Amino acid sequence: MADRPYTLLSCGMSIDGYLDTANGTRLKLSNDADFDRVDAVRASSDAILVGASTVRRDNPRLLVRSQVRRDLRVSQGRCPTPMKVTVTGRAQLDPRASFFAAGDTEKLVYCASGTVAQARKRLGPVATVLDAGEPVDLRRVSEDLHARGVQRLMVEGGGMVHTQFLAADLTDELQLVLAPFFVGDSRAPRFVGDARFPWNQDRRATLVDVRPIGDVVLLRYALSARFRMD
Ligand SMILES: NC(=O)c1ccc[n+]([C@@H]2O[C@H](COP(=O)([O-])OP(=O)(O)OC[C@H]3O[C@@H](n4cnc5c(N)ncnc54)[C@H](OP(=O)(O)O)[C@@H]3O)[C@@H](O)[C@H]2O)c1
Repeated sequence: MADRPYTLLSCGMSIDGYLDTANGTRLKLSNDADFDRVDAVRASSDAILVGASTVRRDNPRLLVRSQVRRDLRVSQGRCPTPMKVTVTGRAQLDPRASFFAAGDTEKLVYCASGTVAQARKRLGPVATVLDAGEPVDLRRVSEDLHARGVQRLMVEGGGMVHTQFLAADLTDELQLVLAPFFVGDSRAPRFVGDARFPWNQDRRATLVDVRPIGDVVLLRYALSARFRMD
């Protein structure tokens, strides 16, 4: 089996396991101190991956915000901010989205075979569009990223992407932030969907750290033997 990057899945959720609201209004799960912690994790990564729905719905920039951290990366001969990666089946992504427009760094779109031609036409000027099979296989994506020099991959959601990375056992570490409120609406996106996960009551994940950060709590789980405490 080809190698894959050390993969860290980072997520904030409500007490009842939701990632967002149902109606599209932005849900602030985290606080400033935790945003800064996430910024440090971004700065330590070679690439950040999100699903196409997150690109469409949140329009994230996915940049390292701290100038000190950006400068440090540059002094190490790296881009100021990590490579950005997304996956899509339908290829309905806007080339003006911040994912593509923000940051002078490489952007990769792993696309289902059937829509590659359409995606290249639409996104070719702003990103590298790659054929990732039909349907897109995230193990194949991980291995291709490793072949492109990505040693450390940060996965930042949403739920569909989390589900596949976890269920396919492609994750080495989970950083889960619990926000102190409920969403209480089953139409809202959840942390994960239905799947057969490698962890259950008989094979429990290893909790390695619990850290209060203001009013949220960071739960850190080791999910593979490759886990590294930094
Ligand atoms: N709280 C947090 O930490 C956090 C972080 C990120 C996102 N979010 C929230 O999560 C929500 C989005 O989550 P989501 O579960 O709806 O979507 P998502 O995981 O962001 O993206 C799902 C989309 O990615 C593409 N995709 C994923 N796996 C694929 C595969 N194997 N093959 C082909 N395409 C694939 C598809 O795109 P196409 O539809 O283009 O085919 C699919 O519709 C948003 O509300 C966002 O705010 C929260």
